[in-house]
Amino acid sequence: MARFVPFDLARKYEAKWDRSSECLANVADSAEHPQSTRRTFGAICTSTFSTFSTFSTPSTDMNAVIDFINTNRDKYVDELKAYLAIPSISALPQHAADVKRCAEWTADEMRRIGMENVKLVETPGYPVVYGDWLHAEGAPTILFYGHYDVQPVDPLDLWESPPFEATVRDGEIYARGAADDKGQVFMHFKAIEAHLKQNGKLPCNIKIILEGEEEVGSANLDNFVKAHKDELKADVVVISDSPMFDRGIPSICYGLRGLVYFQIDLRGTKSDLHSGSFGGAVANPAFVLANVLAQMKDRGGHIKIPGFYDDVRDLREEEREQWKRLPFNEKRYAKELGAPRLWGETGYSTLERVWARPTFEVNGILSGFTGEGAKTVIPAVAMAKVSMRLVPNQDPDKIAQLFEDYVKKVAPKTVEVKVTRMHGGKPWMTDFDNKYVQAAGRAIKQGFGQEPVFNREGGSIPVVATFQEILGLPSVLFGVGLPDENAHAPNEKLDLGNFHGGIIASAFLYDEIAKS
Ligand code: BES
Ligand code: MN
Ligand code: MN
Repeated sequence: MARFVPFDLARKYEAKWDRSSECLANVADSAEHPQSTRRTFGAICTSTFSTFSTFSTPSTDMNAVIDFINTNRDKYVDELKAYLAIPSISALPQHAADVKRCAEWTADEMRRIGMENVKLVETPGYPVVYGDWLHAEGAPTILFYGHYDVQPVDPLDLWESPPFEATVRDGEIYARGAADDKGQVFMHFKAIEAHLKQNGKLPCNIKIILEGEEEVGSANLDNFVKAHKDELKADVVVISDSPMFDRGIPSICYGLRGLVYFQIDLRGTKSDLHSGSFGGAVANPAFVLANVLAQMKDRGGHIKIPGFYDDVRDLREEEREQWKRLPFNEKRYAKELGAPRLWGETGYSTLERVWARPTFEVNGILSGFTGEGAKTVIPAVAMAKVSMRLVPNQDPDKIAQLFEDYVKKVAPKTVEVKVTRMHGGKPWMTDFDNKYVQAAGRAIKQGFGQEPVFNREGGSIPVVATFQEILGLPSVLFGVGLPDENAHAPNEKLDLGNFHGGIIASAFLYDEIAKS
């Protein structure tokens, strides 16, 4: 059986598939995307997508499933549009009813595809949608996790089509939630449906939990997992909520960063002041805030909070070597981002900075007069939202304490300082040699006609560490988004070729997990 060795793109595996028939998805539209938009990979993916719809290791069951998926390809897109039409923005209270309606819609869809015991489990926040199918006696059980909530859509005027009227352009479906995460959740729904409709059964058992609070920090999910520890018993977690390495380069993600998020409020005086009458007599909180923030990093991008790096696990030399071999073009990357120059911690490459190093970011600053024209004023208050991405083995609680202590130390007595901790999550990393990761590698190869590479990601999915800690479960992160699909930004989209390939790969994934 082929073993998937990370990043060894050139290496020939003792694969049982022949090149011409290895891709089962009818992905004809790859021609519309002849080049990568974020990363360059030159010749490596020229043969990525073939248009074959047969495969060389036929099992009657899988043939029927894949035929069904290929036949229903266009119908899936229409169905997905209905899902994407629900503005389930968890961050905005005015959308509370929409988020609940989306939970209902998700549950109804799960019933339609043949899932059983489907229910909404109430939490202090939005409900968790649960469903299962547990008739594959003796086979492993997958715990599938995803989220039905989406990010806000502002700034709305930058959208080329309305965020909740999914629109297909050039083989991509544009809508809020297309990639993050409804499209990727839906891809699994369709894979499950194909198995159940064609064969009346799944190759393995599946429990599904979908939350409605991921985009606001999953505040109630840890308690949900703890409270339902027995019901959630499984062998492996499967998640599709991340991008692949690049167009034509499917990947399995084996590491995520963690997060701690804060709001800093400074107050200088009880009200705004005339900057002529009082300028010189009191500290300006906007200026103090800038000073405080400036003390977070040195010129080399190194974070100055004492003890911050104590638990950072060094990048292994082997990992560094492998990442150097990934087809990543820094110049192209900068150009795509519109950045005059890339910038980051001295001594690390861009991929290392994003995947394996912690960061300190200012997410937003607010103070004083920002309207048109000029106003001579000393603002009474200044506010910043800041966050730190964490890497193994940094602990969010410990980092939060170090940060609060440091702010208190560097902030002058001339202002009142309030530090409020918001959401967060632990970093996560797994061993890519586990048998379920290997199974995912084989499934991806069958859906995409391409060996996956192994990557880490800079983003966070807080519950992944919880699954490991509370349930003792490994996670397989098999995402089919693309790095340039505008998650959290205007014009979010999902490549429909990857959506289709992802449905096929997911269908194979259940089969491969059953066999492993
Ligand atoms: N799907 C993302 C997580 C993600 C992003 C994984 C990029 C891999 C690469 C998820 O929906 C998300 O946005 N997470 C938040 C978590 C936060 C709100 C606690 C994030 O990373 O900012
Ligand atoms: Mn997501
Ligand atoms: Mn997100």
